[in-house]
Amino acid sequence: MKKFYIETYGCQMNVADSQIVARKLAEQGYEVTEDYKQADIVLINTCAVRENAEQRVIGRIGVFTNLKKSKPQVKVGIIGCMAQRMKQQLLEQNKTVDFVAGPDTYRHITKIIENAEKGERPLDVILSKTETYEDIMPMRFNDKNKITTFVSISRGCDNMCAFCIVPFTRGRERSRSPQTVLNEINSAVEEGYKEVTLLGQNVDKYNWNNGEVDFAGLLELVAKNFPQIRIRFATSYPQHMKDTVLEVIAKYDNVCKYIHLPVQSGSNAVLERMKRGYTREWYLDRIAAIRRIIPDAAISTDVIAGFCGETEDDHKQTLALMQQVEFDYAYMFKYSERPNTYAARKLVDDVPEDIKSRRLQEIIDLQNKLSYESNKRDVGKTFEVLVEGFTKKSQKQIYGRNSQNKVIIFDGDSSMIGKLVNVEVHDFTQATLFGKLKN
Ligand code: SAH
Ligand code: F3S
Repeated sequence: MKKFYIETYGCQMNVADSQIVARKLAEQGYEVTEDYKQADIVLINTCAVRENAEQRVIGRIGVFTNLKKSKPQVKVGIIGCMAQRMKQQLLEQNKTVDFVAGPDTYRHITKIIENAEKGERPLDVILSKTETYEDIMPMRFNDKNKITTFVSISRGCDNMCAFCIVPFTRGRERSRSPQTVLNEINSAVEEGYKEVTLLGQNVDKYNWNNGEVDFAGLLELVAKNFPQIRIRFATSYPQHMKDTVLEVIAKYDNVCKYIHLPVQSGSNAVLERMKRGYTREWYLDRIAAIRRIIPDAAISTDVIAGFCGETEDDHKQTLALMQQVEFDYAYMFKYSERPNTYAARKLVDDVPEDIKSRRLQEIIDLQNKLSYESNKRDVGKTFEVLVEGFTKKSQKQIYGRNSQNKVIIFDGDSSMIGKLVNVEVHDFTQATLFGKLKN
């Protein structure tokens, strides 16, 4: 039996997409392997959001060049966002690459592979306005544990933020039917999963059948149908996040009290150039709504340092906003120009590299302090924790997450894995809480 190996880079959506691809291959009789040396088919599911994500993949292709020296029959495919962005360039620049397939081609991925096996070097980067893979049951071979998994609810993005490649690599926004979302969660529950994260580039624009079901409606449907599991979602969008969604989160115990709300910048001038569609004041109003409706919610964000035209004052406004909101966690990036985006075509990437680096470091230093303070506030509190497994260090220490998505480490045993237990926090670092089981 032929074996396939998939390596996944980038976002959670890519993890879910790899599971779609795996299902299609499994249906054709291919068998998954975790050892690329055993594989007949190697797939690299890629990310194009920043240049360094792409460079890592280019470096990784070298490993498979070596593999092909001893196993020339192996076929190597680049799939995902980098495939969509670079198209034939990937085939031209890398002799190792046998085929290139974008994010909307996975329904017929085995056909593409067959053509590669015939000696062609297929390129398929057609984007679809309708494909949601909604009838394809993901093969959950690559979840980091068998406790938590992802379910995509929409694909693509129509927001066209000036810096972002995603609308070009993943195409138009489209939502999956509520019934297929429920079916997929049901199958995950039957497989023993205890937590699902609903995925979309902008979950707040989930829209089934011209407004018949919006994101608040879908979230409530999921929460009601699966009271026995935890529900998370990502990613929220400040311009579109409605109070009705926050009310559903507050109403259902099984919907986790955690919101990832990317701000990108604290300066209105920068937000406008980014075409984010909201102001600093609007963003702060959304934060106030979260605090009012879900007082125990944790909030995380994404920040970009050194976007086109960002002044020292713009940067200071970002720091001030972070301080004001007191984010519990943040993903922080240096602006990386992506070809063909609005920013690449119309704006100048004019913040020098050393200034970008310094600003990013200031953002990271501040967030480290905010994360530390956030964790400090949890000392003495008791949280319900879904146990995910043993820590790397010890067979006595287990870890899990609380509703707020914070990792808590405590002494326990294998019988607790996959269960909800109460843990009282007694110590912390900036990254982790430490606690004791409470009965
Ligand atoms: N809506 C998506 C966002 C995908 S990109 C989601 O579901 O998460 C994730 C983050 O990468 C963005 O929020 C932004 O902070 C960052 N990012 C996107 N394009 C970037 C670029 N050109 N340079 C630096 N960071 C970028
Ligand atoms: Fe990108 Fe903005 Fe959509 S960051 S994924 S264009 S919401």
